[in-house]
Amino acid sequence: MKTTSPATAPPPFSSPPLLITGRTGTLGRAFRRVCHIRGLEAVCLGRAELDIADLACINQALDHYQPWAVVNTAGYVRVDEAEADEARCYRENAVGPALLAEACAARGIQLLTFSSDLVFDGQQQHAYFETDRARPLNVYGHSKLRAEQVVLARLPAALVVRTSSFFSAWDSHNFVHHALAAARAGQPFAAAEDLLITPTYVPDLVNTALDLLLDEERGIWHLTNHGTCTWAELARQAVGAAGLDAAGIVPRPVASFGWAAVRPTFSALRSQQGILLPSVESALQRYLADEQLLQSASPPAVLAA
Ligand SMILES: NC(=O)c1ccc[n+]([C@@H]2O[C@H](COP(=O)([O-])OP(=O)(O)OC[C@H]3O[C@@H](n4cnc5c(N)ncnc54)[C@H](OP(=O)(O)O)[C@@H]3O)[C@@H](O)[C@H]2O)c1
Repeated sequence: MKTTSPATAPPPFSSPPLLITGRTGTLGRAFRRVCHIRGLEAVCLGRAELDIADLACINQALDHYQPWAVVNTAGYVRVDEAEADEARCYRENAVGPALLAEACAARGIQLLTFSSDLVFDGQQQHAYFETDRARPLNVYGHSKLRAEQVVLARLPAALVVRTSSFFSAWDSHNFVHHALAAARAGQPFAAAEDLLITPTYVPDLVNTALDLLLDEERGIWHLTNHGTCTWAELARQAVGAAGLDAAGIVPRPVASFGWAAVRPTFSALRSQQGILLPSVESALQRYLADEQLLQSASPPAVLAA
């Protein structure tokens, strides 16, 4: 572990913490925030402290922090770049989770890791359940499916959450943020009119995934908000919920974007366990409330670092 603190210094926790990878990412930051809100002790490590594709780094971090579980939010999420960057995509998305699973299995601790709706080919006429056949269309999807298989082979007690299309007011790297920013600036905003998805509000995802981890659930779970829509419909819904003019939303066929990776035209997810996350409408309302709150408040000190 290339840690900045002396490896001999005891970790500052009164009980074993949760160890979260991917400190700089959307999901890693959200887990850190939710753990703080819920009073769960957690250490969140970035790539410089813990490279998930390096078993020695993993073992050193686990020896040092002695966590009760690992939450892996690290990964390679640039779906189009992955087409020409296969080795790196597999390193971050498949090798890393496999090594984490191996290390967690050796210690008898839990692992929560994340997969994607892009493991499916979109040929189905109704939302995908956990047991439906996965058949990815692109390199990213193949790397995520490979991760699912290797993680569960090495650690059958692992919790693998398939999710999709994040949005959150907690950072600006997401579609809803960009749609709203364009509408507020009076700019046109193009969005795919022929890809059907189930969007996922990151705070809902993190809270529910944490509940499942605490309940020692295992295997593959689908977690997305309830409600299937196209990207263009999501943009319209978000802009409408904010009381803005949706005239600038430009629905376009996916082919017109010239993306390198083929995407399933239909990748909505639902869970055999029932409806686990609230509706997209409810999530958008809470997104807008979060946005207002963040504009008027400074972040908790624990999140400033
Ligand atoms: N975003 C979505 O809509 C979406 C949808 C479905 C599933 N997911 C899955 O959810 C997970 C998190 O996605 P996200 O949107 O939060 O991703 P993100 O914002 O791109 O963050 C990815 C994080 O992974 C880190 N990372 C990459 N390789 C690493 C390595 N070898 N060792 C340690 N850290 C490494 C990155 O660190 P650096 O900053 O150093 O690069 C970054 O902190 C991923 O598994 C993704 O496939 C995301």
